[in-house]
Amino acid sequence: MCGIVGYVGRTMDDTALDVVMEGLTRLEYRGYDSAGVALVTDDGIDAEKRSGKLENLRAALAARPLPTSRTAIGHTRWATHGGPTDGNAHPHRGGEGDRLALIHNGIIENFHVLKKELVEEGVEFRSETDTEVAAKLLGREYDRLGDLTKAMQVVVNRLEGAFTLLAVHADSPGTVVGARRNSPLVVGLGDGENYLGSDVAAFIGHTRQAVELGQDQIVTITPDRHEVIGFDGAPAEGRAYEVTWDAAAAEKGGYPTFMEKEIHEQPHAVADTLLGRTDESGRLVLDEVRISEEQLRGVDRIIIVACGTAAYAGMVAKYAVEHWTRIPVEVSLAHEFRYCDPIVDGTTLVVSISQSGETMDTLMAVKHASDLGAMTLSVCNTHGSTIPRESDAVLYTHAGPEIAVASTKAFLAQITACYILGLYLAQLRGETYADDAKSVMAELQGIPAKIEDLLGRMDRVVEMANFMADTRSVLFLGRNVGYPVAMEGALKLKELAYIHAEGFAAGELKHGPIALIDAGQPVFIVVPSPDTPHELHKKVVSNIQEIRARGARTIVIAHDGDEDVEPYANEVIRIPRCSPMLAPLLAVVPLQIFALHLSTAKGLDVDQPRNLAKSVTVE
Ligand code: AGP
Repeated sequence: MCGIVGYVGRTMDDTALDVVMEGLTRLEYRGYDSAGVALVTDDGIDAEKRSGKLENLRAALAARPLPTSRTAIGHTRWATHGGPTDGNAHPHRGGEGDRLALIHNGIIENFHVLKKELVEEGVEFRSETDTEVAAKLLGREYDRLGDLTKAMQVVVNRLEGAFTLLAVHADSPGTVVGARRNSPLVVGLGDGENYLGSDVAAFIGHTRQAVELGQDQIVTITPDRHEVIGFDGAPAEGRAYEVTWDAAAAEKGGYPTFMEKEIHEQPHAVADTLLGRTDESGRLVLDEVRISEEQLRGVDRIIIVACGTAAYAGMVAKYAVEHWTRIPVEVSLAHEFRYCDPIVDGTTLVVSISQSGETMDTLMAVKHASDLGAMTLSVCNTHGSTIPRESDAVLYTHAGPEIAVASTKAFLAQITACYILGLYLAQLRGETYADDAKSVMAELQGIPAKIEDLLGRMDRVVEMANFMADTRSVLFLGRNVGYPVAMEGALKLKELAYIHAEGFAAGELKHGPIALIDAGQPVFIVVPSPDTPHELHKKVVSNIQEIRARGARTIVIAHDGDEDVEPYANEVIRIPRCSPMLAPLLAVVPLQIFALHLSTAKGLDVDQPRNLAKSVTVE
């Protein structure tokens, strides 16, 4: 996924470049292996681009200041076609005299065919990217038509795949043309100036009036207007809305990293996701779920599709939703679901979980599910993103912008939203557990305060992270809803500290993994509430005993008051007591804090870990 910014203003000064660079700074989390800008100046197009982080581009601009301009586009890249090099960085040029510049987010799947056509016409390429093919195509069409919007319309109708394109031309100062398919594009409306961005963070410092473009739409912005047409050329309209969070929300709010800020925003993330879900009688009302109650009553199977942390939220939800609704719930990694010939029909509800709403694996799974006739519902944190738009219904989480690549508050919000969905389905179906809805919702209301309390007692976890900074491998064990929490704890450590970490179902230990236990091997064990049925608590305590006897260093996450774990624990991290089903919302917090501080102790980039991007918009 890449960061995209566009700007047009009235005066020829440095505003255009400053606005674009500020926007790229806010969007850097979307991808940061190269960056570039292009301006329309009095002498034509002037551009600069550099591989590496945005800082490299800033240095190049300081060394060679660009002329003043009122029209600019900018791009931060996460490589898909062609490595992160200066040559592959955007913008790419096209047309007679390279008088056109183009930036792109997404993948043009038929670029090979188009490139062959252009090469046969004698067009020369400087990069390995699919984007340059679009730039050369657009340049050719502009030279033929002399109108940037019309040229864009011809080109987008030849492209296949996912793309957000922004283009400027030397002949059209004061104009930026954008287009989108399966990739986001938002207009920012200013006074005598207008903006474009892959999300509102691009221009949030300047305006909160936004227009979200729909699928297959083209927008032309000038300082005083924005005009939207469809790929077919017919007049169209985007969706106007006011951005409710301010620039500060996208900043760190006083914390050293976005991740630490977002961990501390988790009480609000859960509380805000619970907001407005019940009517005055306490019954659940989900007005954004646009699937009829009758259809939902007929659901006889639920498949959750997601990736990474979102998939672990789905694994937690499986236990709760099955318990409350008695509907079979399967959790399928989106990239597996897409190609496993799934058994889906009109009474299957496919629930996608995605923080960004742009994860291509999950988007393709949703589209596949729709093609197979399933009802689709998106649990998503990003309003107006592609996956909710491609789904029959949406249940938004309200975690606020999650900037750190490692997902934290979105994870808790996703679990909360899935619980709300499960309780809603139980309520609709009048299941025995429908009565639970009110008591569970009441207890959920108390979880934010418990998270807040828990965040205030993490000193020992921070200490452990510091003295374990040289650890080479950590294992995580859990059972039932604690099993996905163990998986998530391992993922956080892999992502942030780049060390081997593995999560297991605690019951699986004796079937092989226990061979990994060596003297001093650190093992986190997520212990269920002592109130958990089926003697699960007792079984996990004996798991701790087994590995402690073999020399493991046992770090136990246990509920307040649970004394059974004491004899076998090297460390006990206490979490506030709660019902077994809600424990994941608390048990994961110490694991997040541990990974954050171990990464910090190793001097690593917490917010932008190597090789990762905030949303993976390629399959
Ligand atoms: C989680 O810390 C990772 N950044 C990653 O696993 C992420 O959860 C996954 O890529 C799914 O992203 P999404 O929620 O935006 O779809």
